[in-house]
Amino acid sequence: MSPLSLMPYLWFSTCCIVTAGIRTAQFTVHCGCSWLLCADVVCENSIKKVVKEVEEIVGDKGLNCLINNAGINVVASLEEVTAETMLTIYETNTVAQLMVTKAFLPLLRKAAQLSTGMGCHRAAIINMSSLAASMQLVQANEMFLKVYPYRIAKTALNMITRCLAADLKSDGILCISLHPGWLQTDMGGNMAPMQVQEAIPGILSVMDRLGEKENGSFLDWQGETLPW
Ligand SMILES: NC(=O)c1ccc[n+]([C@@H]2O[C@H](COP(=O)([O-])OP(=O)(O)OC[C@H]3O[C@@H](n4cnc5c(N)ncnc54)[C@H](OP(=O)(O)O)[C@@H]3O)[C@@H](O)[C@H]2O)c1
Repeated sequence: MSPLSLMPYLWFSTCCIVTAGIRTAQFTVHCGCSWLLCADVVCENSIKKVVKEVEEIVGDKGLNCLINNAGINVVASLEEVTAETMLTIYETNTVAQLMVTKAFLPLLRKAAQLSTGMGCHRAAIINMSSLAASMQLVQANEMFLKVYPYRIAKTALNMITRCLAADLKSDGILCISLHPGWLQTDMGGNMAPMQVQEAIPGILSVMDRLGEKENGSFLDWQGETLPW
């Protein structure tokens, strides 16, 4: 793993306790420079709460990097897909990313005002997208025909990336879509060729190298540009 030039001085991660299908936001864990906060990205109050918590910790320094990582998937082929599934996946994988980003914008703007150039050293939004979102690669990846709602929601997320990249450029805030690789996670399953720890150095190195040229791009975990 190549050493990172930008080591964050504070890390925030979020998670939820899910009881009987209901997400609850009840705890905060703090250890050294890492904070584990509770957030349900489809709940407006939960988003407000987590933004306030982060704001209290970072103060005037703002937030340098927001990673919109939360996502859900269900198997839904053309025969299986329903309006309800489409809307549920769209809410979590697309609408939530835009609302979370809007809520964190004041903190991202604060950080951007304190630096120059473009990238994670200043202010950046990383939207976790997927190869499944690529319209040009639909025929090359027929396995994704089984996940209509997921791939459509991620394609819409890619449009959010493009809009934010254009809209926030003048604020010095960069935005990209990132495909993390097919990974062995709850979502990726155990057929995935890579473990999370194999992809992380690549993902961090891509984030480390982001600059103005990459604003609004769709990259994979190795830094390769993916077709929209
Ligand atoms: N794994 C892959 O091969 C792969 C490939 C391409 C793209 N991606 C993308 O990478 C990202 C991470 O995926 P993953 O593989 O790590 O999936 P995962 O193992 O299923 O994890 C998804 C994460 O999203 C969180 N989440 C879901 N709904 C949420 C909500 N309403 N509020 C807050 N958090 C919520 C989950 O929290 P809980 O655990 O609390 O439910 C979980 O931590 C996703 O955006 C996914 O689409 C993954």
